[in-house]
Amino acid sequence: MPYTSILIAVRDVESLRRRIQAWRREGKSIALVPTMGALHAGHIANMKIALKMADRVVATIFVNPKQFGPKEDFEAYPRREQDDFEMLSAAGVHLLFAPDVAAMYPQGYDTTVHVGALGSILEGAERPGHFDGMATVVTKLMQQTQPDIALFGEKDYQQFVIIRRLVTDLNIPVDVIDVPTVREADGLAMSSRNAYLTAEERVRASALYKVLKEVAITIAKGGDIAASVKAGHEALLKAGFSKVDYLEARLADTLAPLTAATQPGRVLAAAYLGRARLIDNVPIPQA
Ligand code: PAJ
Repeated sequence: MPYTSILIAVRDVESLRRRIQAWRREGKSIALVPTMGALHAGHIANMKIALKMADRVVATIFVNPKQFGPKEDFEAYPRREQDDFEMLSAAGVHLLFAPDVAAMYPQGYDTTVHVGALGSILEGAERPGHFDGMATVVTKLMQQTQPDIALFGEKDYQQFVIIRRLVTDLNIPVDVIDVPTVREADGLAMSSRNAYLTAEERVRASALYKVLKEVAITIAKGGDIAASVKAGHEALLKAGFSKVDYLEARLADTLAPLTAATQPGRVLAAAYLGRARLIDNVPIPQA
């Protein structure tokens, strides 16, 4: 295999900063790719794009307790550090920052980044505090790393919109790049949480993407927005999803309700299949 880079792993902010300062002295540009680990091809797509856009890529792995609700899966969330290290290494990532909770939130830690209206709709309505926890850790990772660019997947579309707003609002000098969703052959968006699906649920799971696409195409063709969304909701239940948290058509840039197919839009949904809560979204094709 051709020599590309050697992956270095660090667990504390001081070591991270020392490494980055050395690269800065050499005039290298830096990309940040935050993750919670249990890496899959979607995460690796983010790394690959980062490697094309910057001289050095810093991946982070941190299962952030502040973005999980008390009844959510923080304890159960998959942790596979050795496999992750090997995948990052093979991809050619230069540095892995994998702090523990005490390094990220030491004794006495007392500051939260609060997301406004964008944080309380869609995912935020179902998961109170989730986006504050996410915004807090992403702000910290950006301050710790001070990269030129940071990459986030469209899979978590609301998260991406919030982060883009956050860097503007807090004057963080980082370009936020969105990465298209990587899917399995049947259309299911790759996710660390797909591991929660049984074999039978895994077969049914592809309905989420199919339904989202159908709704988006119907709206693009001039179909009534409310009726298309309602039909999508029903199609998910029929496909075996037990509960639909939301299925909505929104403006792509502000996530305000979509009123006409002429505006760039996105259809977003979250639904339960067994114990797995799946989220996905698609763009509404423009004429
Ligand atoms: P995590 O779910 O591990 O995702 C890390 C990054 O990979 C996010 O930007 C996410 O949108 C992206 N990603 C996930 N699945 C993807 C797919 N199928 N295709 C393309 N990109 C995908 O999102 C988080 O972690 C956390 O909230 C984090 C931003 C790290 C803050 O804790």
